[in-house]
Amino acid sequence: MMSLRYPSRLVRQINKITRKNCRCFSAPTRITTMKDKLNHGPNLKEFITGSSEPILTERPNIPYLPDDIQDISKRKVFFDVYGCQMNLNDTDIVWSILEKEGFERTEIEEEADIFLVMTCAIREGAETKIWHRLDHLRGFKRRRALSKHKNRPVKIAILGCMAERLKEKLVEKEKAVDVVAGPDSYRDLPRLLALTDSGQTAVNVLLSLDETYADVVPVRLNQDSVSAFISIMRGCDNMCTYCIVPFTRGRERSRPITSIVDEVRYLSDQGVKEVTLLGQNVNSYRDVSTQSEARDTQMAKGFKTVYKNKKGGLRFADLLDKVSSVDPEMRIRFTAAHPKDFPDEVLQVISERANICKLLHLPAQSGCSAVLARMRRGYTRHAYLQLVHHVTHAIPGVGLSTDMICGFCGETEEEFQETLSLMQLVDYNVAFLFPYSMREKTTAYRRYKDDVPEQVKKERHSRMIELYRKKSQLLNEAEIGNTHLVLVESIVKKTGQILGRNELYIKVLFDQTEILAQDGGRRAVTPGDYVAVKIVGAKSSVLSGIPLYHTSIRDFYRETSWGDRHAVRM
Ligand code: 5AD
Ligand code: SF4
Repeated sequence: MMSLRYPSRLVRQINKITRKNCRCFSAPTRITTMKDKLNHGPNLKEFITGSSEPILTERPNIPYLPDDIQDISKRKVFFDVYGCQMNLNDTDIVWSILEKEGFERTEIEEEADIFLVMTCAIREGAETKIWHRLDHLRGFKRRRALSKHKNRPVKIAILGCMAERLKEKLVEKEKAVDVVAGPDSYRDLPRLLALTDSGQTAVNVLLSLDETYADVVPVRLNQDSVSAFISIMRGCDNMCTYCIVPFTRGRERSRPITSIVDEVRYLSDQGVKEVTLLGQNVNSYRDVSTQSEARDTQMAKGFKTVYKNKKGGLRFADLLDKVSSVDPEMRIRFTAAHPKDFPDEVLQVISERANICKLLHLPAQSGCSAVLARMRRGYTRHAYLQLVHHVTHAIPGVGLSTDMICGFCGETEEEFQETLSLMQLVDYNVAFLFPYSMREKTTAYRRYKDDVPEQVKKERHSRMIELYRKKSQLLNEAEIGNTHLVLVESIVKKTGQILGRNELYIKVLFDQTEILAQDGGRRAVTPGDYVAVKIVGAKSSVLSGIPLYHTSIRDFYRETSWGDRHAVRM
């Protein structure tokens, strides 16, 4: 006869019943009564709450696990996500992997069995926040171990960039966590989590040369959102001297174009209205799995790189072309890019396609050529300004965004002034501004001194913010009277106002009201709608407007082409 292995939860419940009975009966009676009870008592299914499936199909089949640690299904995971959009997307990948293995998700801490903390290591501040969260979780774990729910021990798993960087500290010194999984080992998570059942700490921080999770369809944690992120590549080979990313996320690799297009189609079918293509350096995308003529990217004059250009394969312009053709009513965004490769083919696709948002991220990092050289960015201030000039002429009215760092090793006041003057010269619609934070392992850590005092970094940071706010206020005010195409994201709980974003990713707020619909009737505005909004007010990071009518990307730009509405800015 085939022997049936009961899941350990059931065994625990049976043991509990046995122990309870021990107090009341003498041994022989106890055994008889127990057998009798089991014969007439609840069946296996009733121990699995909410299940209508037979137990054997409920159990995940993980052939590489020892039998005694197979019962990992139905454990509830709680996600904590820190850092960039890439981490949000990685969380969706992790959830897709765990959901298939029978895990459940909760947003209530008390219900959780496993805390999955998706971490970021890019600046010290990000890590400090995560250490505080870990302190809280460890306290929670201790309290659970002493409570009446001690049979549901809490496990803590650290995922992402901090995992690779701090594995020893996390596991050995701090004894803070049960699982450490780096960005390339998410497929291994079910096994790693199962190993913790026998009290082990499980670590996998191996970086891969080819893992892109191409076949994992991410399950979005926020199913209501009208927008989604799609990873098109992982890792980075640029080796900017200040940056930890190449060490935590490994070598650059691109995901095959077909799997990206399939995902865009799938999201479009689900009603998603906006996708953002993600990578550390999207415009060096190469699908080397495809055969195509080796049209090699010509780097613009004034740009050089330590990065070895890949040969052949479909490139970012091809990807943009295919992705934007899936659904002309789906907005396409992309980030992040490196200024070193913005070939004309990419600019051309962007300017031709109405559904590719006309916002280019050109992270300058500094406005001073000497600092840029120390950062190993591969361009000078002059080359960067020429690129800005080129893109603003190629795509009239294009929006620009940037990342800037102040207080990098050896940065003098004069050098910092050049960053301010660059921000004065270039009209950035969006800017992400950071004080430098020295990271171990980076070239800057080995080669330079972190010699700008914290106070000076702070003060320079404030000056950058002040300038950015002033300028973006002016840029936004210049939009008053214009009509923007707004994709509605949500309804603000407090005020009932509608929140959406324009093409340049600036927030636009307006009051709810019934407006002309495309079928000639009138209807209220809901998330996912495209609305033509007349801008009537501006702050530095938000516009306010009056909704005019429901529209679509094609209809809106048929009436007012993007190019005609904008003058060249530089
Ligand atoms: N300190 C401060 N900012 C950094 N960035 C990357 N590394 C550091 C660091 N060590 C910024 C860069 C990058 C953005 C994602 O984070 O501006 O473009
Ligand atoms: Fe870091 Fe530079 Fe790569 Fe961006 S391009 S992730 S800043 S190394």
